[in-house]
Amino acid sequence: MKSNELLQSAEALLQIQPNATSILANASAFIMDTLTELNWAGFYLYDGKKLTVGPFQGKVACATIELGKGVCGESASTRTTRVVDDVLNYSNHIACDSNSRSEVVVPIIIKNQLFGVLDVDSPILSRFDSETVSFLEQFTKLLVKTIDI
Ligand code: SME
Repeated sequence: MKSNELLQSAEALLQIQPNATSILANASAFIMDTLTELNWAGFYLYDGKKLTVGPFQGKVACATIELGKGVCGESASTRTTRVVDDVLNYSNHIACDSNSRSEVVVPIIIKNQLFGVLDVDSPILSRFDSETVSFLEQFTKLLVKTIDI
């Protein structure tokens, strides 16, 4: 399926979820199901001080991440998407799953407040090309629209 078709399916799925936990749980499953070559897809949520692990698909992950720490903490503190082509050569990477080789993190901002981040990992170097990153950013916009109603 093309990106725009995937986004339409995602919107239909997310709109019928009863609450934010359900939205995030099914969103992580949707990403894991529809993108290839991933080993982790999910959320870290901001509790006002730090990031804590939310709904995800993949191996057991670290429970908390300080702002600025790791790729997730960087994305959260700068409110920008971070793409790391080779996590083994990136000093500010927190290794949760030793299979991960590349990673993308997209911040989730609701009403100008940091809500959390979408974190996606791949066992393939440089997995996240501009098309995939753009898809994940648009997917995150859908999440914001769906959660923020
Ligand atoms: N690698 C992330 C930590 C979370 S796991 O990838 C699930 C980071 O550097 O922030």
